[in-house]
This record gives sequence, structure tokens and C-alpha cells, in this order.
Amino acid sequence: MRKAAAAAVAAAAAVGVALLVRRQLREAKRWGRADAVLRELEERCAAPRARLRQVADAMAVEMHAGLASEGGSKLKMIISYVDALPSGEEKGVFYALDLGGTNFRVLRVQLGGKEGRVIKQEHDEISIPPHLMTGGSNELFDFIASSLAKFVASEGEDFHLAEGRQRELGFTFSFPVKQTSIASGTLINWTKGFSIDETVGEDVVTELTKALERQGLDMKVTALINDTIGTLAGGRYDDNDVIAAVILGTGTNAAYVERANAIPKWHDLLPKSGDMVINMEWGNFRSSHLPLTEFDQALDAESLNPGEQVYEKLISGMYLGEIVRRVLLKMAEEASLFGDEVPPKLKIPFIIRTPYMSMMHCDRSPDLRTVGAKLKDILGVQSTSLKTRRLVVDVCDIVAKRAACLAAAGIHGILKKLGRDVPNTDKQRTVIAVDGGLYEHYTIFAECVESTLRDMLGEEVSSTIVIKLAKDGSGIGAALLAAAHSQYREAEEL
Ligand code: BGC
Repeated sequence: MRKAAAAAVAAAAAVGVALLVRRQLREAKRWGRADAVLRELEERCAAPRARLRQVADAMAVEMHAGLASEGGSKLKMIISYVDALPSGEEKGVFYALDLGGTNFRVLRVQLGGKEGRVIKQEHDEISIPPHLMTGGSNELFDFIASSLAKFVASEGEDFHLAEGRQRELGFTFSFPVKQTSIASGTLINWTKGFSIDETVGEDVVTELTKALERQGLDMKVTALINDTIGTLAGGRYDDNDVIAAVILGTGTNAAYVERANAIPKWHDLLPKSGDMVINMEWGNFRSSHLPLTEFDQALDAESLNPGEQVYEKLISGMYLGEIVRRVLLKMAEEASLFGDEVPPKLKIPFIIRTPYMSMMHCDRSPDLRTVGAKLKDILGVQSTSLKTRRLVVDVCDIVAKRAACLAAAGIHGILKKLGRDVPNTDKQRTVIAVDGGLYEHYTIFAECVESTLRDMLGEEVSSTIVIKLAKDGSGIGAALLAAAHSQYREAEEL
């Protein structure tokens, strides 16, 4: 009897051990699979220095091609009609409207010339209801115009609009626009999740002016600019050595000061001397040297603008979190990263927004508490092992650092085009104004942009290059350019 019981116990123990071993084997296989996905991601995203140099070279080559002829490159190299950056002499009350992401901003500035500088400024930030981003054009422009009308109505006595003057506005419209003058231009295509068919090919200023009229608002748009141009103008107002601006936010783009005689597509229509600010629209850059993965390809194919903005889709805030989501989904499906069930929310596109990714990536707590909390909030995953949380951080690290390295390579390309990537004897300073939430808030990303650029340029050249956060410079920049192109300017200069 005792023997039989002992045998039964032994058999049960053996079954237990076998089950345990099986579970351990399954676990090991699961982790092995998750690790394999991670390793492959790492390999495909790798951006060693040699590759970054190729990207920088390709950027410089494409810049030349885009300047040479219309449609000569994926880089549009748009002539902005801004041939002079702010001098500091600008005076008066000006408005700015900044539309380009999920929020738009309205701004009122009182400029006081060389002495007074920015005497006073006020602004309001309004988020755009998502349905307006893909609806009809009148709805979007009416919403903007009505918010601007409310803001204008709040103008206090302390803003001194000169007697009998019409209010003037600098409109920062951060999408690819083919400029036809400083205050007119037609939309080439939407980016960053906006998609309103009837606006493409229309004059953006006319659309806005009609909407302002519908709101009974008497205001003249005197400058239509891209956010990169605004940032460059605002940056130059503060620092004379600013020669380029880069936006690293929801979208990405760059602008810089070019010599007018280096723009063959400028034709014979306009003066060839002096400077001209170029809106590169670098988000649309592509090159065989870009490290693309299956996740990027799928994201692009399923996006509102397949085949377009390939560089932007690797770098900017709109997409980084989404790339991470796609990788985690594969790990969940193939390696049960979050348990036997794939969390249903993980299947929802864009559910992991880049600010969340940044919070998880920057979690310094030993048990990665923030990562756990965010996974719970965003995906509804109740509990995760430390190993899972570490893997999530690793994925964020690979995706963010690839983006930062590629952005640095792009900046290097601009410096190359301008001949500022080599030592100069007089130690001339070169300043690049950078704006955008991604750069401002995602510390690991921003540090990686800077360290990669330093590494690419070497110590001597790096000591002359400054990357400067120009927070919201584009709003002030738009107001400054509205002032520079004011309808009353010539009368005042007489
Ligand atoms: C747009 C650019 C803009 C950039 C940053 C891109 O999607 O095409 O015009 O400057 O985003 O806002």
C-alpha cells in the first residue's frame, strides 16, 4: 500500500517536473523569439557612422538637384520669397497664426524696433478637433478664423495698433506650399495626417482670407510662411549667426539661407543677387541609404500618403510611437510578449503616441515603474514582467536613436552644402535654430541628435556649430515677417 502511494507521489512529481520543464522550455522559446525580433530590428535600424555619412552626402546632392530644376529631386527646395531676415527694426502690432500640427496657435505681438524689441506678446493655443483634419476645407478654415476672431476680440488697450490701420497677420502654414509670392501660395499636398482634397492646388491665403471675411474679421495676410521659415526668422532676430532652422516635432523639415545666384531654377524672373531662404521640405527626402524595416514599409503603405514623406516617417513625432507599436505587436503575436492573448488595444494604429514612448524610454526607476504604468494605461495590460518592460524600453531606444541619428545626418548634409562642415580659420559661428516638441521634450532623442552631429563633424568643427532650441520662434518669426512685409512699410520708409 505504502509502495503504491510512494509510486503515485513519484509519478505526480515526475509529471510536475515534466510540466515545469515544458513551461520553462516554452518560456525560453518565447523569449528567444522576442529577442530575435529585437536583434533583427537592431540590425535593420543600424546607422553606423559610414552610413550616416552616405545619408548626409545624399542630402547635399539632393539639395543641389532640387535647386537646379523644378521636380529635380524629392526635396522640393521651395523658394520662400523671404529675401531678408528680420533686422530688428520691425515696429507695431502684428498677429501670427501657426497651423501645422494637432494644435494651432494665435499670437499678438507688439514690436518696438531696435530699442524696444518684443515689447509684449500674448498667445492662445487651440487643439484641432480630429474630424476637421480630414473633413472639408471650409470647416477647417472657419474653425481657425473663428478662433482668431475670438482672440482679436480680447485685444487690450495696451496693444497700440496705429490709428486707421488694418490688422496684419503672418500665417505660418506648415505644409508643402508652392509659394507664388511672399503672401500667396498653393498647397502641394497635406502631410502629418491631414487630408482635405479640395484645398490641394488652392491659394492658401485666399482660403484663409475668405474665412476671415465670413467671420467679419478685417485682417490682411501679409506673409505666408512655413514653420521652418518662421523659426529661422525668429532665430535670426535673437542671434545673427542663425543660418538654418530645423523642425523636429509632429513633422520634420528644414530651411536655410541660400545665395540667390546658387538657385538655377530661379529663372530670370527675379533678382539673382542677395539671399533667399529655401524651405527644403526635407521630410520628403529618400535615399537607398536610409535604414528601412518591414515596420516602416507597412506603416508607409497604410498611411494617408504612401510613398511620400519617407524621411519624416522615420524621424518625426507623429510616427515614432507608431513604429514602436508595430514592433510590439509583432512581439505580442509571435512571442506572446504580453501573455497568451494579444492586447486588443495594441492593434489600434497610433495608440502609442510618441510622448508616451518618450516617458517609457526615459524611465530611470530600477523596476521600470513608468513603463509598467504606461502599458497599463495605453494597452490595458494589467501586469508585466520586468523582462517585458526592458524589452519595451529597448525597442523605444532603437527606434528613437535611429531617428536622432538620421536627423543629425540631415543637418550635416545642410552644413556640407553650405561649406560649414569643414574647419574655418576665423572660427565663424554657425547656429541652427531647432524647434518642435520632439526635440524639446524627448531628452534622449535631443541628446542623441547633438552627440551624433558632434561625432560626424569632429571636435574642431563642432566647436563652431551651435544647435539652439528656438522655442516657439516660429510664431514671433511670422509676426516679424508680417511686419517686414507690411502694406504700410513703404509709406513709413518715405
Ligand atoms: C511639412 C512641412 C513642415 C514640417 C514641420 C512637414 O510634414 O511638410 O512643411 O515644415 O512638417 O512642421
